[in-house]
Amino acid sequence: MKILIKNIKQLVGIEDEPRLKVSGAEMKKLECIDNAWLAIENDKIVGFGKMEDWEGITDWTNLTIIDASEKLVLPCYCDSHTHIVYAGSREGEFVDRINGLTYEQIFERGGGILNSAKKLRDASEEELVESALKRLNEIMLQGTGAVEIKSGYGLSVEAELKMLRVIRTLKEKSPLTIKATFLGAHAVPAELKNDKRKYIDILINELMPRIAEEKLAEYCDVFCEQNYFTKEETVEILTAGKKYGMTPKVHAEQLSNFGGALAGVEVGAISVDHLEFVGDKEIEALKGSVTMPTVLPGAAFFLSLPLPPARKMMDAGLPVAIATDFNPGSSPSGNMNFMLSLCCVQYKMSPEEAINAATINSAYAMDLSKTHGSISIGKQANVFITKEIPSYAFIPYSFGSNLIETVIIGGKVMN
Ligand code: NIG
Ligand code: FE
Repeated sequence: MKILIKNIKQLVGIEDEPRLKVSGAEMKKLECIDNAWLAIENDKIVGFGKMEDWEGITDWTNLTIIDASEKLVLPCYCDSHTHIVYAGSREGEFVDRINGLTYEQIFERGGGILNSAKKLRDASEEELVESALKRLNEIMLQGTGAVEIKSGYGLSVEAELKMLRVIRTLKEKSPLTIKATFLGAHAVPAELKNDKRKYIDILINELMPRIAEEKLAEYCDVFCEQNYFTKEETVEILTAGKKYGMTPKVHAEQLSNFGGALAGVEVGAISVDHLEFVGDKEIEALKGSVTMPTVLPGAAFFLSLPLPPARKMMDAGLPVAIATDFNPGSSPSGNMNFMLSLCCVQYKMSPEEAINAATINSAYAMDLSKTHGSISIGKQANVFITKEIPSYAFIPYSFGSNLIETVIIGGKVMN
């Protein structure tokens, strides 16, 4: 199978020399070609260039030609932080928050993550696969080509394994590239409310060996926050996770400055995510580390949290990634286009910075930047073609609109 996209008004996010991530001032640059062509063979990008330099086609067999006049082509988004497997929904808590309760107060009365845990334990694997596939399909048509999915609504040995097996099934059934994260340390389950130590021992001694045995997760994550897990517990759990082959990630500094980012740097986390309460100390520590600072603008927006200092981090020379945090409690949207709008409007990121953050940098945060996250020869053919639009800045500018016309995943047209 071959696809030739021709007359592309602008081919956005190309790389002649692929990088693993882009940092600081480099994020302001986004390489593009005007009036371009892009060639795909099987699941890979095999060529691109200017229309005027195009040498034509010698072999027309199995070739689909797409004319993209007045349209842009971009690499698909990589969404490096989601909780897309869940049962039911939590719009009741949304209304409670409108009426004055805080996210923390809702958790303290047994809602929040514990509400989703109750719902998930009653759901079958089949139901969870079916509802998650619908969400994956929705985000794919919004331009996402790779996604990380966390457990963390199970909170017991059986229910966490059930969630991770659901993610394994999604990897088989969905055309998207999927990475799995074990987030048993998302909250302490109600039945062990007064015995967190016991729960941590279960995570480390009972769950991790089973996860490793069944190869169910690439990453291990902890919600490092007051009433959830301390910095020391975060380091302990993530260090144990590494022994079982899982790379660390952290939910860090979302509701308070609580040590998650420093814990992440200490254990060599691939990303620390949220960062609303990150300070100068954490920014210093992140410099020179392997850890990708990742902002989740949907959750900050939906919970009316202070904004993470994305601008300050980039000005300090750090890379920044963007992900959706798609989940039923704090970010019931997996639309990366809207995340771009939030970053441009609220965090003062330029469209170039936002696109880099949502493609190559978020690919890094899920170990995919060698194969995803830019238009580069040999990379996975995950690209989307826009409707007729004037420029790439029009994407974050037109918040709430769907400007994507065609999505190609692994060299196959999806719609
Ligand atoms: O990333 N912060 C912790 N976990 C999720 C929220 C999960 C939920 O409320 O269900 C988050 O925002
Ligand atoms: Fe999250």
